Amino acid sequence: MSAAVTIEERTADPTLVQREVEAVERIKRARATLGDDVVVLGHHYQRDEVVQFADIQGDSYQLSKEGALVKAKYIVFAGVHFMAESAVILGRDDQVVILPNMNAGCSMADMANLEQVMTAWAELEEVLGSATEERVMPVTYMNSAANLKGFVGQYGGTVCTSSNARGALEWAFALREKVFFFPDQHLGRNTGKRMGIPLEEMVLWNPFKPYGGLTDEQILNARVILWQGHCSVHQQFRPEHVDLWRKNHDDVQVIVHPECMMDVVDKADLVGSTSYIVKVIDAAPAGSKFAVGTEVHLVNRIKNRNPDKFVTLLSPFSCLCSTMYRITPLDLANVLERLVAGEVVNQIHVPADVKANALVALNNMLAIPDNQKVILGD
Ligand code: 13P
Ligand code: SF4
Repeated sequence: MSAAVTIEERTADPTLVQREVEAVERIKRARATLGDDVVVLGHHYQRDEVVQFADIQGDSYQLSKEGALVKAKYIVFAGVHFMAESAVILGRDDQVVILPNMNAGCSMADMANLEQVMTAWAELEEVLGSATEERVMPVTYMNSAANLKGFVGQYGGTVCTSSNARGALEWAFALREKVFFFPDQHLGRNTGKRMGIPLEEMVLWNPFKPYGGLTDEQILNARVILWQGHCSVHQQFRPEHVDLWRKNHDDVQVIVHPECMMDVVDKADLVGSTSYIVKVIDAAPAGSKFAVGTEVHLVNRIKNRNPDKFVTLLSPFSCLCSTMYRITPLDLANVLERLVAGEVVNQIHVPADVKANALVALNNMLAIPDNQKVILGD
């Protein structure tokens, strides 16, 4: 398989293509030596040259659930930082989780930090009174730092992913009257709307303004308080892209990820996590047409695997998760070869107290029954 590098990268380093091709052989050799000691997990958005080595490939939910059952001592996570942290939290204490490139983060996860969330919680307490803990359920999207998951666990809340957000919100509303949802406003809003919550009861918390920029009345009347965060990849899909495909192809089905904005989700035929998108298109009859609103590497992979179907990116622009893309075959070869040499590099650590609290929140998520993991209610 040829290595995918950008023109800028090739110009900066003309040897890169050849080195990436050689890296594939280096990875194979290192894996053969390491045998069952290592398991590679790969997110669907990861580039082909890397994800081809994943023992388990999936969406965030699948990777956390199946990753938690891995027996190997070393887990190499070809994803982004928060995914590797979750593997540490769900893993055994003697397991080692490695991120091949420490710069593989997530811009959405970076939109909420512990200090901001604690400030917001204190401000909510000022408005709602000391019973806030009994009235508001914190729910964090998987795409968040470990210490935010820890915060949520401490207050009895749950983590959710794009494949179980509705189950998580239903669980939360069975226990408390309001949900504080971070950091992805779109997943929260799209899910709440599908559950029949009126838009005026879902307010947006701006972390850069006192009290989120909200009045006491707005906070008191809200059922869902949404953090003002978003995915820089999925926000590139626009409602006009849906209109364009529909205008030119009346038989096209628009399928999008729930991190897309509400105006896009409302116009789509189908909405769901990356695994849902894969499943729907793979199972569709030959001749089906799909315009897909999610990361370009996954869309291209689905397209190549389904030559009898028309599969295209919803947007005319290349919607790439540039942080996931930072993991190259060279990075994977490097961490594996270092393991062969008995050296651990790029290990992801989560402090024990954070791990204990975050585990509560992740276990709450994993305990939501599978039949409630409905894709936003479709
Ligand atoms: P899922 O893996 O839940 O589909 O989410 C996509 C994503 O953006 C991961 O960062
Ligand atoms: Fe983060 Fe968006 Fe990339 Fe997912 S696709 S890792 S949410 S930036």
